[in-house]
Order: sequence, then structure tokens, then C-alpha cells
Amino acid sequence: MRLRLVLPATFLITLSILSPVVIAARAPAQNSSGAKPFDLIGWNGGQIVYGVDYYPEAEGPVDKDAGMMQAAGINFVRMAEFAWAKMEPTEGHYDFAWLDGALKVLNAHGIKAVLGTPSASPPAWLMAKYPDIAAMDENGVRYRYGSRRNYCMNNPHFLAAVRGIVTAMAEHYKNHPGVIGWQIDNELGGPDCYDSLCLAAFQKWCRTKYGSLDAVNKAWGTVFWGHTYSAWPQIPLPWNTLYGVHNPSLELDYHRYFSDASRDFLVMQADILRRIAPGKAITHNEMGLFDNIDYSHLNTALDFVAWDNYPMIDFSSHATYENYEGAGLAHDLMRGSRSQQNFMVMEQEGGLPGWNTFWGHQAPPELYRVWAYQAIAHGADGVCYFRWRTSRYGTEQYWQGVLDQDSYPNARYGIVKQMGGELTRLKQILQGTRPVSQVALLVSPDARWAFHIQTLVKGFDYNEQLHRYYGSLRRQGLNVDVVFPQSDLSAYKIVIAPSLFVLTPELAQKLAAFAAGGGTLVLTYRSGVKDEHNVFTDETLPGPLARLAGIAIHDYDPQTSQDQEIVMNGRHYPAKVWFDILTPGTAETLATYDKEYYAGSAAVTRNQLDKGNVYYVGTEPDAPEFYDSLLAGILRGAGITPGPPLPEGVEMATREGDARKVIFLLNYTASNQAVPVGEAYHDALSGAVTAEPVELPPYAVRVLVK
Ligand code: GLA
Repeated sequence: MRLRLVLPATFLITLSILSPVVIAARAPAQNSSGAKPFDLIGWNGGQIVYGVDYYPEAEGPVDKDAGMMQAAGINFVRMAEFAWAKMEPTEGHYDFAWLDGALKVLNAHGIKAVLGTPSASPPAWLMAKYPDIAAMDENGVRYRYGSRRNYCMNNPHFLAAVRGIVTAMAEHYKNHPGVIGWQIDNELGGPDCYDSLCLAAFQKWCRTKYGSLDAVNKAWGTVFWGHTYSAWPQIPLPWNTLYGVHNPSLELDYHRYFSDASRDFLVMQADILRRIAPGKAITHNEMGLFDNIDYSHLNTALDFVAWDNYPMIDFSSHATYENYEGAGLAHDLMRGSRSQQNFMVMEQEGGLPGWNTFWGHQAPPELYRVWAYQAIAHGADGVCYFRWRTSRYGTEQYWQGVLDQDSYPNARYGIVKQMGGELTRLKQILQGTRPVSQVALLVSPDARWAFHIQTLVKGFDYNEQLHRYYGSLRRQGLNVDVVFPQSDLSAYKIVIAPSLFVLTPELAQKLAAFAAGGGTLVLTYRSGVKDEHNVFTDETLPGPLARLAGIAIHDYDPQTSQDQEIVMNGRHYPAKVWFDILTPGTAETLATYDKEYYAGSAAVTRNQLDKGNVYYVGTEPDAPEFYDSLLAGILRGAGITPGPPLPEGVEMATREGDARKVIFLLNYTASNQAVPVGEAYHDALSGAVTAEPVELPPYAVRVLVK
């Protein structure tokens, strides 16, 4: 957990999976205004935002940089998110002259800016004056100065200082035409702080939620081990205890509290910016599958979503170039976290990722362009590379920017420039379009958190399950929308809702209504186990979903010793992680287990309703072919036509709007590939009419329109 203080986006995803951390989706998401980042940023003529993260406080000369940026088609920079000490060198004395100077030069080259509020990196003078701004670890020790994201977000001195710098920035730039928006803080999500202020804040949150201690005691089942609370100050944080265990109900609420508190911190800044400088768009740079924060809740406070995409960091199991679905899933989750509104990538990997202590993979330069097009294909209306130039200083000397420290116009610069030229040709075609899907993948922040709290089973990974179903749908050439418990499901024919471990009555009802209305629902193992308080159901599993699925689970096997297999249509597939032994009631059996004392019992079922269908997959088959075969049947049944056959390493994604469909074909491999799209299209990048099949040279991008 402590590492979350300092590490970058994708690293944090992995850590949050490994360690018990936070999530939630309670408050209904506001419906999106329908406005797109294009509109929100107020971009002239709907130009696609194409940028770099730029640090004029440490690099330059700005005029040379701006010239090179302009030549590469760059029209956007994000700046200042770590420049607090430069903007406020001493308490209450603000200096924006250096930033004004940089903006002037950049603007003169047609480049506009989003400015980051710098709360992620409080200055040394501030933390020296108020040492208790530093967050406290669970053993009661405060972190020492250094690194970043090292603050307690409930500390009044810190909050006052944040209000001060944000107010000063808003006042100074409220009428600046070259500043088109704000990024609040940088990658919110940690650290957990265990000081008395955060303890009091959690106790207050519980009081607001439950109203009475009786309600808390009841909801959390504190009768267990006699943990009954008789006064609010007795309620602890989930800090260090003997054996490191805590009441799972308390922990789930802590996750919700932390997510809410992060949102409150963001809203405090957003309110200042909106009041003083209305008309500039507000965003935050998020982290895809990172789950300390329920983005679907946080993002109701933004004008549009932005996120940081680093596909080549190999410690995130689904984010290498062999596995581009990982980045695709993260894009779609980010889009879904604000009701499918188009988004932007605020940090798009622009070179080899490396910190003091780790490295990612180097990619062929061409691949950086394919990744950037993937973002656009999945609904990004803007892509901004991290960073313009590799830093000469600090922890990120090995995190490559587009340029290296010597500013030589290298191959990556050439690729960025190529794409910059292409985007001007695409702006008309893409404006007003967005990904459209008939299939949704439902992510439950509560369930994800609850699995972190009780890791339960070796090898269980909630995100891995998402990935398995998602990957299969993408292999079949289909777009996928990621939705959340509060989302409207009416636009979908199929909803896949993996491992709804924690389930509210509202969601159970919503899913039942979806299936009763003719939808196809796919449920998977460990569903309907807990109520919203992370308390076990006393109904036969899968609890509130049992009737809907037409099954009962009287026994299960948490991957004790053996390799398991399931048999579906005469074919054997390996299975792992968990085996729900299904007793079909109204459901029919589609696959059975092949080993152990329950060989022959149902592993996968389908319950046909009057109109809809409910599938239950009681295990985690460990073969892509299983998912392809099951989902191909489900798609057929739902009347959804898959896309053309895609070679491995080739992705297809589409955007639609204004009676126009734009098809993206992306080749992530170093080989020639071909996709039989069935008819001739106009290739918007080359201007040619495509032959059948469409040829894709290594790392090719095709943007096809009629
Ligand atoms: C994150 C941060 C950036 C930078 C990159 C690379 O995404 O937002 O400031 O640290 O990681 O490490």
C-alpha cells in the first residue's frame, strides 16, 4: 500500500490488485451532458487534441520546443501539475511569469494548454512548516518529505494551501485564451493515511451513512468477536492489527469512504475553478483499471474524463503489446465511467517506461502511433504523449519522452509527426462519432473491493475475468461498452457481469428486469454471495440470483489441489481458480466438470426465460477458445453479427455518428496481416479505395469509411 504514494499509473494497478485496497459505486452517475471533449475544450473547428506533457519549469528552450511541436502537428500541452514550488516559491507569493512566458510562445505556435493544479506535490517549505501534512502509515509513522502524493487529504493546513494556489491559478488564468482547461491534481488514489484527522473523517462518514451506532453494528455484524461499538470514536481505520485482519464490512466501507474523500478533495478544487474561471473544462488524469477510486462516481464531478495509458509496462498482466486488449479494456472502462462520453488520453506512452527501480518494454517506434490510434478508435477525442522530452532530473530519468534529453529528432518524433499530419485529415470524419456497442461488460466496484479484502482464492483476479470475456468479444470484432451498477442497460442486448460477489437488491432487480425484458445476461462464479455490507447471504447460492439463473449451488471447490477440466459440446477445456458445482433447476446444462468427486456436475448453465436468457459460468475456463465458443453462440442467439475474422495481433474498433461509420483496423504485429472486411472502403489516411481483403503491413493503421 505504501508504494502507492510514489509509483506511476500502471504500477499502481498491479499493487492495488496485490494488496487489500478500496472501491465503490453508490451515487447514481449523472447522465452525461452528451458534450464531447471536442466541445468542452472548445477547440476551434473540432480539431483533434494532439499534445505532449510539457515541463517548461525544467526544460526548454521553449521557442525551439514549440517550433518542433508545431512542426509535428502538436496543438496541445498539459503543464504545471508538479510546479507548485515554482508557482508559489514562498507562502502566499505567487509567480506565474515563467508560465506566462511559456504559454505566450506555445500559443504563438498554435498550441493551447490544460494546466494541472499542483496538489500532488506540495512544496518543501509547506511541509517543513506543517509536518503533519505528510500522510501517516498504518503503524502511525508519518512519511518524510520527498516523492509525491505524500499528503493527508484531510489536513487543514494542506487544504488551505491547496485552496490558495488553486485560487491564484484560477484568478491569473481566468481570461487567458490559451488556457482551455484544468487537470485537478495528478492520479488521485493514495496514499491511505491513518492519522487522527483521517480517522475522524472516516468516523464522520460512517455517522453520515448510518445515522446510529446500532445501524453500524448491525450492518457490519460487529457481534462477531464482540467488536460492538458503543461510541463513534471507537470505530477504527483498517490499520495494523494482530494477524492483519479486519472486519470485511468495515473494510468495504473504508474503501467507499476513501473513494468519496478523494472525490471531495477534487470537488473542492473544481468548485474554486468553476466559480472563478467558468468556461474552462475540468478533468483529472485517471488510471484505467486502477481501483482505489470508483471512477464512475468521481467522474460525475468532471466535464470530461482523461486517463494515462502506458501499455508497455509488463507488470500489468494485460498491458503488453502482445495483449492490446488490456489497453482497449482500460479505454472502454474509462469511457464507461462517464456514461460512454468520449474522453482523452492525458498521458499516452511515448517511449520506454523506466523509473529508478524498474523498466517496461521498449516498443518499435511505429507502435506508439498504433497505441495512439487505438485510443481514438475507442472514443478518445484527444491524445497527449507523456512527455515531450525525457527528464534530465529526478526519478524519471529513464522514462522516455518523445524526444530524449539531447532533443535529437529521433524515430519516435518522426512517428508523432506522421500522426500529427494525419489527424488534420481525420478531424471531419471523426467529429460527432463515438463507439457504439450492443454488448456491455458490467464492472462492480463493490465486488472488486470485496475481493481485495478477502483474496480468497489463489489466482483469482477480477480484472482477469473482465479481460477474458472482453478479449473474446474483441477477437470477434465487436465493440464493448463497460458499464457500472448504476448504468442504464436498456441499450444492450447482452450484459456480461462477472463475479458479482457483493450485490445490492437494486442491482439484482435491474439484472432480473434486463433479462425479463429479453436481454441475455451472463453471470459467473462467486456471484450473489454477499449483501451490500459485505455480509454473507443466508440464501442458497447464488443468493438473490439463484432464481434468475435457474440453479442452486450446494457445494463449491476453491481450486484445492487439482487441474480441473470442463466439457462443452464434447470438447475439453482447462479450468482454474474456482469451481461452483451447479445444480440446475429450470436451467439446462451446457458444460460439465470432468474431474474430482463432482465429475459430471454442471459447470455452465443456461436458463431460458420467456424472453431473455441467463447464463451462469461456474468456473474460470483457462482457454480463449472456450470464451470464443460460448460467446459466439450467445451472440448468435442475441442476433448480433460478429465482425470479420481477425488475425492474432489485429484489432478492429468502430466509431459511429451522423449516419457515418468509421472502422479502425490496427496491426500490432511486425508481420503483414489481412482482414476480409467484405466490401470496398475508402481509406481515410491513404486516400485509396481498399481491396478485399484489406492488407495491413507491420504496425499499419487503417481508418476506413464509405
Ligand atoms: C504517471 C504520472 C506522470 C509520470 C508517469 C510516468 O502516469 O502521472 O507524472 O510519473 O506516470 O512515470
